Amino acid sequence: MAIMAAASPSSSIYHRVSFSPKYPAALSRDFHHRPRLLRLGSPRLRASTAVRASSAVADVEKPELATEQSQTLDTEIFSCPICYEPLIRKGPPGLNLRAVYRSGFKCEKCDKTYSSKDNYLDLTLIAGLKEYNEVKPVGTELFRSPLVSFLYERGWRQNFDRSGFPGPDEEFEMAQKYFKPAEGGLLVDVSCGSGLFSRRFAKSGTYSGVIALDFSENMLRQCYDFIKSDASVMDTNLALVRADVARLPFASGSVDAVHAGAALHCWPSPSNAIAEITRVLRSGGVFVGTTFLRYTPSTPRILRPLRQVFLTNYNYLTAEEIEDVCTSCGLTNYTSEIRQSFIMFSAQKP
Ligand SMILES: C[S@@+](CC[C@H](N)C(=O)[O-])C[C@H]1O[C@@H](n2cnc3c(N)ncnc32)[C@H](O)[C@@H]1O
Repeated sequence: MAIMAAASPSSSIYHRVSFSPKYPAALSRDFHHRPRLLRLGSPRLRASTAVRASSAVADVEKPELATEQSQTLDTEIFSCPICYEPLIRKGPPGLNLRAVYRSGFKCEKCDKTYSSKDNYLDLTLIAGLKEYNEVKPVGTELFRSPLVSFLYERGWRQNFDRSGFPGPDEEFEMAQKYFKPAEGGLLVDVSCGSGLFSRRFAKSGTYSGVIALDFSENMLRQCYDFIKSDASVMDTNLALVRADVARLPFASGSVDAVHAGAALHCWPSPSNAIAEITRVLRSGGVFVGTTFLRYTPSTPRILRPLRQVFLTNYNYLTAEEIEDVCTSCGLTNYTSEIRQSFIMFSAQKP
């Protein structure tokens, strides 16, 4: 069943920097400002900073409408995917689509720049490379296709119900309960796909900021199209970022919540990914994931080894394996709910 559904369709680190606004990605100059590093631990303080940032007046599709004067107090949460040093931003502050799109980012240590493309910020290791192309395993490559990305919320994801997935509304409510300790903080929706959960998290107003992150360029384009058609999401503190789950562009201990819906089985290495998620979570931060189990308690024992042999395109784990990896990465308070092949699990950084 699982194969049908899947194969068919804090202490956040802040910078203070002055900028005069000139956008998006031309970044080779003007990075001589040395930021003063501030650590803002309280979620309330972080939330208020984000709200202020979101009030910038601009239009993603019409950057010339920008009205900002010189900007100050940029709350930078993005880090270099190579060295994990916080990036320096040139452009309007804030964790929202307009501000991020109109900004350029630079790692001073690596002397590398990052910018937005098609309304998402590309923070992959391969961002901007002209010669090098990397082909990932099927679970990653399949979702880079424009067709799969288009179909994902138009029938593909609905198929998951047959394997026991409760559906986005209920899964969202379930996840929100686990995320209680992270309220008011920064949530990263890792492997967000077309953003069906990112939009709900952003709209809920529960978090000071939401980052919809995926490796697939086309999923992120779809994500933007859905956001664009809903003004109530467009105006939230939501940013779109391209990144690899095994190389998250955030400083260690800077994220309050990580959500990964129906994703673990698609990752090239679930253990690398969970270790990386653990790294970025702050102490007390929460990780909530869902996936298809390789087999369930009701799967006849005789069939279990076969599922291991034939389901090789995806990393379907057992419930015990998921708990084992989370625990071995140092996460605690592990808990899970299982319905047929569906599992929602949650764990916390001590
Ligand atoms: C089945 S979709 C899940 C989408 C959505 N979260 C949901 O709950 O329906 C799996 C997603 O994982 C993403 N993915 C696969 N490999 C990845 C990687 N290495 N890093 C980040 N995302 C990845 C795919 O691009 C795809 O969007």
